Amino acid sequence: MPGADRRDLIAGLGAWAGVGAAIALILIFALSGKLAPGLATVAVMLIAAAAFAGRALARRQQEKNAARVFAPASLDDGALLQALVQALPDPSIALDGDGRVVALNASALGVAPALRAGEPALLVLRTPELINAVRRVLAGRLPEQVEFSERLPAGRWFEVFINPIATPPDALAPQKDLILLTFHDLSQLRRVEEMRADFVANASHELRTPLAALSGFIETLKGPARDDAGARERFLNIMESQATRMARLIDDLLSLSRIELNAHRRPDKPVDLLSVVRQVIDALQTLARDRGVEVSIAPPPAPLVVPGDRDELIRVFENLIENALKYGASGKRVEITFARTGSGQPEAAVAVRDFGPGIAAEHLPRLTERFYRVDVAGSRAQGGTGLGLALVKHILNRHRGRLSIESRFGEGATFTVRLPLQDGVPAAVDKKP
Ligand SMILES: Nc1ncnc2c1ncn2[C@@H]1O[C@H](COP(=O)(O)OP(=O)(O)OP(=O)(O)O)[C@@H](O)[C@H]1O
Ligand SMILES: [Mg+2]
Repeated sequence: MPGADRRDLIAGLGAWAGVGAAIALILIFALSGKLAPGLATVAVMLIAAAAFAGRALARRQQEKNAARVFAPASLDDGALLQALVQALPDPSIALDGDGRVVALNASALGVAPALRAGEPALLVLRTPELINAVRRVLAGRLPEQVEFSERLPAGRWFEVFINPIATPPDALAPQKDLILLTFHDLSQLRRVEEMRADFVANASHELRTPLAALSGFIETLKGPARDDAGARERFLNIMESQATRMARLIDDLLSLSRIELNAHRRPDKPVDLLSVVRQVIDALQTLARDRGVEVSIAPPPAPLVVPGDRDELIRVFENLIENALKYGASGKRVEITFARTGSGQPEAAVAVRDFGPGIAAEHLPRLTERFYRVDVAGSRAQGGTGLGLALVKHILNRHRGRLSIESRFGEGATFTVRLPLQDGVPAAVDKKP
């Protein structure tokens, strides 16, 4: 007789034996004239019998459900479990009731490289929160979820789901009491959260600095400098420049979020790059003159037309040429060159080169981060917010282009913009704003 049917029979016999014994006891107590204590004893017996029968029925229902989930397989259960665990996309490990590894997939080795099939997992999992949770699930067979982080080799965060595996009712001993650990990598999510928190902290700090200056001057103008016409004039000028700085910061932040929002939509109006650069140089003539810098252009032999958004490309070259004028002024000249490059898809390459102090190698990879500045005080003094190159990067991403930066400390810097060229002959090229 199969185990399940035998258990059904035992449960049934147990329940009926309890009821029979209860009736017999009532009769005995009634005949001996002690009905009240007799009824109490019988009630206790009936409750025990009902509980016993209830448990047996619940277990039977569980087994019926398990039978629905486990279809008969042609593979033996161990091989099937191995194949299933290996097919799971997240790092996953199946353990037996003693905590030994029954099955694991390749990505699980990325989480715990010392794991081996057939060996105890708890010795190599290392993280105490995880080990304790696995022990609890092995003992109590209730699912748990834990989060843990690893500092080395690189900061990683995981959420681990530890679930008992419901095994077929007649499983052999090694397949009983299995549990499954699935690791969900939260590292990317956490990094984005950290970046967002940094971003809010940086943005608030950048706004608070000019705001504090404005409040200070308002106080002074209301108090000690109330009747000092000279001081009033001076302070109002400073206040105006601080207010302009705040407005610029907010403009840049809004532009960044607008560009990010449209990142997946590639702009497609034909834009002539030489005309964009000429327009930017005209607008920055006063700055170039103030800094004593000569800007030269080497035009391309043939027009370089890219699919793009003219206003956004103007912002790209505005920031690169303004940076060259502001930070590379000591070199006294800025050169802008154009080239047609690219092996497969032809590209336009526009390089903005200055001969100023250059940038030390350790700063280069971080220059396009929001608010990153090599010399914070120096950049602030020039009215910079540290968002310029972040905007450049995002605009170029949207245009499927890229920015490369070459520089050696003391030898100037070259910022090169590469953009895919327009296929075929453009119908109408956007040359003017
Ligand atoms: N041509 C350059 N030579 C030397 N340092 C540069 C050059 N271009 C950029 N940098 C450095 O890179 C930093 C980041 O530049 P970015 O354009 O992102 O910000 P910013 O110019 O400070 O502010 P904003 O562009 O918002 O006015 C600058 O603060 C500066 O330290
Ligand atoms: Mg800038």
